[in-house]
Amino acid sequence: MSLGRIRPQFTQGLDKPPANEEKKAFTSAVTPRFTLEGDVTLTAQVIAQLDEARAKIDYFHKIYVEWGFAAVDPVGNGIVLNFFGPPGTGKTLTAEALAGSLQRNIMTVSIADLESKFMGETSKNIAALFRQATDENAVLFFDEADTLLGKRLSSVTQGIDNEVNAMRSTLLIELEKHTGIVIFATNFVKNYDSAFLSRITHHIGFTLPGDDERFRIWAKLFVAAIPLAEARETMLEQATSLSEGLSGRDIRNAMRLALPKAVLESEQQLTLEHIESALTQIRDAYGAISDASSSIPPHINTAKKMLGLS
Ligand SMILES: Nc1ncnc2c1ncn2[C@@H]1O[C@H](COP(=O)(O)OP(=O)(O)OP(=O)(O)O)[C@@H](O)[C@H]1O
Ligand SMILES: [Mg+2]
Repeated sequence: MSLGRIRPQFTQGLDKPPANEEKKAFTSAVTPRFTLEGDVTLTAQVIAQLDEARAKIDYFHKIYVEWGFAAVDPVGNGIVLNFFGPPGTGKTLTAEALAGSLQRNIMTVSIADLESKFMGETSKNIAALFRQATDENAVLFFDEADTLLGKRLSSVTQGIDNEVNAMRSTLLIELEKHTGIVIFATNFVKNYDSAFLSRITHHIGFTLPGDDERFRIWAKLFVAAIPLAEARETMLEQATSLSEGLSGRDIRNAMRLALPKAVLESEQQLTLEHIESALTQIRDAYGAISDASSSIPPHINTAKKMLGLS
């Protein structure tokens, strides 16, 4: 049984907040910096799924009122999206960009914002959060949502477990009645409780970028003013093939590593060698990390598994 980041925050015995405890604002709604059209490179399949989600928002009146679907689906006016897939594939970026394209503010919530050391307060915090999102017409975004949406505990033995279950039950109720847009993102979708899975209207799977997407991500990062040693198109094609199997984040990180290399040389131009060497650094780092974890003696791995730590 693993409660991830939730467990350490609750303290049994402290079951009432002091009378003068002030209600904090969980997170403020901010204006998104990105849009889907301008800042994200996604596969045609993900774009099609996002378009369908947007159609539900844009054509709500047509579907529910003109076509009369509200008669059989009276509580269907909210929309719950789940972005899942490997690290660095653009889930967090897309959440902000979707809000940007919809011209709505976004409230990004972390579990730490919701936790309270007082029994019963975490559930109240969740209810208040949904109210705030409704009042501000903001997109509600739960990043790294797997801990929050994890399987509910069936054998409840401690107050702390009760608190976690109560919080998840409140979240289910709020999701059911919310009329706005909620987005969850995770790279551990298998941890989601099935009760949450069935309340999510759109599951959108992110994948590592293919050739075409990598080319476009590189093209965006090759900002016009960066001096290039070779023809832009040639460099983009080479960078695309050198970065096969890497994520959008890896590509962005490769540029972050390559540009200082270029600026330190007398020509002050970005070359393919700089990019290649940056990509090698990134691949080597992955290799070193996986070697380090596979060199842990087997009995320690077994112990970690038994403790739910792996
Ligand atoms: N599809 C993409 N299009 C454009 N840029 C991308 C894409 N994917 C990743 N990036 C770049 O990598 C950065 C990190 O991506 P992001 O944080 O959205 O990944 P993530 O899927 O949320 O990863 P994690 O699962 O680790 O949270 C982005 O801010 C952007 O610079
Ligand atoms: Mg993310």
